[in-house]
Amino acid sequence: MNKKIILFIVLGIMLPFSWVVADDAALVKEKCAACHGDDGNSKDGKVPSIAGFSAEMIEDTMEQYKSGDRSARKYKPKDGKETDMGEIAKGLSEDDTTKIAAYFAAQKFIPVKQDFDAELAKKGEKTHKKKCEKCHSDNGTNAEDDAAILAGQHREYLEKEFEKIANKERDVPKKMKKRFKKLTEDQRKALIEFYISQQ
Ligand code: HEC
Ligand code: HEC
Repeated sequence: MNKKIILFIVLGIMLPFSWVVADDAALVKEKCAACHGDDGNSKDGKVPSIAGFSAEMIEDTMEQYKSGDRSARKYKPKDGKETDMGEIAKGLSEDDTTKIAAYFAAQKFIPVKQDFDAELAKKGEKTHKKKCEKCHSDNGTNAEDDAAILAGQHREYLEKEFEKIANKERDVPKKMKKRFKKLTEDQRKALIEFYISQQ
C-alpha cells in the first residue's frame, strides 16, 4: 500500500481518540482541577486525591453527593469560587460524570509526601490487617475494592473523614460501621499514621 494512504488510515483511526481524551481533560480542568489538580492528585490537605480511584467508586460517590447521602464541606480554591461536592455533582450531566470518572481512573495516584509517626504506624498496621484489610486490601492501596485509596492520602483529609465516620455523619457499609465503632481513639490515630506512612 502507498505510504500516504497508510498514514491517512492511521490518522483517521487515531485522531478521534486523541480528540476524546483532550475533550475529557478539558472537562476535568473546567469542573474539578481547581481543587483536585489536573490529574486528580490534590495539593491541598483538605481535598482528597482521587487519581487512580475506580470509575465505579467515583460515580457512586458523585451519586451520594448528588442525593445528599454524603454531606459535603464548602471549599474555596485559590483560583475559583467557593462551592462543595453536592453542588458540583448536581451540576454535572450523567454523561459528563461517566467521562470524568473514566479520566480520573486512568491517572496515577501519587502518595502524598508528609510527616508521620513511625511507631504509631506500626501499631496501625496491625489493626488494619485485623479489621480493615478485607475491604481495603493491599494496605489500603487497591482501587479495585471500590472503597477509595487510603494509603498515601492527605493526613488532614483522612482525619476529617475518620471523625465524620466516627460521629456517624457519614454513612458507610454496615460491616465497616461495626468495626469502626469498636476502635479506640488511639487505634484510629494509629490507623491514620499507617495509611499516611505509605509514600
Ligand atoms: C471547590 C473544590 C472542589 C471541586 C471543584 C471539586 N471537588 Fe471533589 N472534593 C472536594 C472536597 C473538599 C472533598 C472532600 C470533602 C467533602 O466530602 O466535601 C471532595 C471529595 C471528592 C470525592 C470523594 C473522594 C473520597 O476519597 O471519598 C470525589 C470522588 C470527588 N471529590 C470528585 C470530584 C469531581 C469528579 C469533580 C469535578 C466534577 C470535583 N470533585 C470537583 C472539593 C472539590
Ligand atoms: C465490609 C467492608 C469494609 C470494611 C471491613 C472496612 N471498610 Fe472502610 N470503606 C468501605 C467502603 C465500601 C468504603 C466507601 C464508602 C462509601 O461509599 O462512602 C469505605 C470507606 C472508608 C473511608 C473513607 C475513604 C474516603 O476517602 O472516602 C475510610 C477512612 C475507611 N473506609 C476506613 C476504614 C477503616 C479504618 C477500616 C477498619 C477499621 C475499614 N474502613 C473497614 C468498606 C469497608
